[in-house]
Amino acid sequence: MTATGKKPKAEPAPPTTLFLFGAHGDLVKRLLMPALYNLSRDGLLGEGLRIVGVDHNAISDADFAKKLEDFIRTEAASKVKGNAEHALDPQLWAQLAKGISYVQGDFLDDGTYADIASKIADSGTGNAVFYLATAPRFFSEVVQRLGRANLLEESPGAFRRVVIEKPFGSDLATAEALNACLLKVMTEKQIYRIDHYLGKETVQNILISRFSNVLFEAFWNNHYIDHVQITAAETVGVETRGSFFENTGTLRDMVPNHLFQLLAMIAMEPPAAFGADAVRGEKAKVIGAVRPWSLEDARANSVRGQYTAGEIGGKALPGYRQEANVAPDSSTETFVALKVMIDNWRWVGVPFYLRTGKRMADSLAEIVVRFKQIPHSIFNQPTSSFQPNCLVIRLQPDEGLRMNLMAKTPGDGMRLKPAELELDFRESFKTPRMDAYERLLLDVLRGQLTLFMRGDELEAAWEWVEPILDNWEQNDSAPIPYTAGTWGPAAASALIGRDGLQWREEALPED
Ligand code: BG6
Repeated sequence: MTATGKKPKAEPAPPTTLFLFGAHGDLVKRLLMPALYNLSRDGLLGEGLRIVGVDHNAISDADFAKKLEDFIRTEAASKVKGNAEHALDPQLWAQLAKGISYVQGDFLDDGTYADIASKIADSGTGNAVFYLATAPRFFSEVVQRLGRANLLEESPGAFRRVVIEKPFGSDLATAEALNACLLKVMTEKQIYRIDHYLGKETVQNILISRFSNVLFEAFWNNHYIDHVQITAAETVGVETRGSFFENTGTLRDMVPNHLFQLLAMIAMEPPAAFGADAVRGEKAKVIGAVRPWSLEDARANSVRGQYTAGEIGGKALPGYRQEANVAPDSSTETFVALKVMIDNWRWVGVPFYLRTGKRMADSLAEIVVRFKQIPHSIFNQPTSSFQPNCLVIRLQPDEGLRMNLMAKTPGDGMRLKPAELELDFRESFKTPRMDAYERLLLDVLRGQLTLFMRGDELEAAWEWVEPILDNWEQNDSAPIPYTAGTWGPAAASALIGRDGLQWREEALPED
């Protein structure tokens, strides 16, 4: 039974000590603690979870536990399932709080790792997860020291796992160096590289749709599919992350991870099973089959933009260069559109158009699979008047699948009109969904690696991205301005328009 008296839905995670490096940071506050609390409410953590904060600030165990409680009560209340105002169930929290403690220490000081070792020794279990919720400059430093202190050596009944947040490097060389550093002290099976997109229900649903319905898979190739569009658009700007974003930009922030993961889910061959090796192996293969662009190709097949002042929902918004901690002459992109080709039997000739940006007209993430036009019309209207079939996989918001078909308009004659089949996930499944971090944290504790990126997938994605970065650097092409609240620069429409196509919202009939 859980503390709320409900029967747990599944086996709880095994007893584990979870070390949160960067314990006072935003990630712990906004995402990890609410996720852990919700998992515990759902009876999925068991009673053997110990949470140990690791950071340089001095704080007692009791005050640290109180701080985490406050995170949940205030900042994160909206993410905690149940009543937001009184989100915390005292009994449940008391149970979780029993296992909370703190190690004060510098990440670069070997003494910190000796303290971590004693925590494990005192915990009653050898299982430990080290979650690096730190600035990326500490990833290699922490991992090397964990290795030196023999904290990454596994034995029966004592797993050791490291969770790493993005960014995983800032280009191919740094991604390779990071992976090499990780693999010096542990095996690939101990590394959990988080891409929170993989924790989203609808992203997992791409695999279910493709591999549990013969209908889609039968047409999933260049004989029937004309092109694919992948959009991850946000109305938010860079908010408080100006200094991070200045050094990162949208390409690095979104493409080698989130967008390439979506591309891989759509384009991968059927894996033999839903196991980590099979799924990640197929993803790595298809990412490796993406046609490499020369610098010249990179210039022709990429668009970068930067938002200027505009308006969203009647609210006037500053341009990117006016945001806090952003240079007034910044050339960092906040939008990118790309054309990607995959050179394998299934996909050759089918363009994939990717686009993502901040301060766009709408917040949505979706994949549009546009099928080919019918070859011949038997009706008294030209084939060009038939809207080609289109499968829209909506990741957020309004998660679901939509398929448009041509249908007969009722009444006399044979007049045809596009109509839609719709599967709304929220309507169809009333069961509560799991937040991405809940799903992924539970998988870490259970040792399920399928929804985490493997090193070779990432390196292959960085390898593809590299010429785009090089082209921008060498040709010093400044981003094209676009007004906040629009769909990005006109050049993004021209990129797809060059192939006689339109982005989905451009092709939709006016209301
Ligand atoms: C993060 C990026 O990985 O993903 C952010 O760093 C971006 O810049 C975010 O806003 C988008 O995630 P979601 O889940 O809000 O679509």
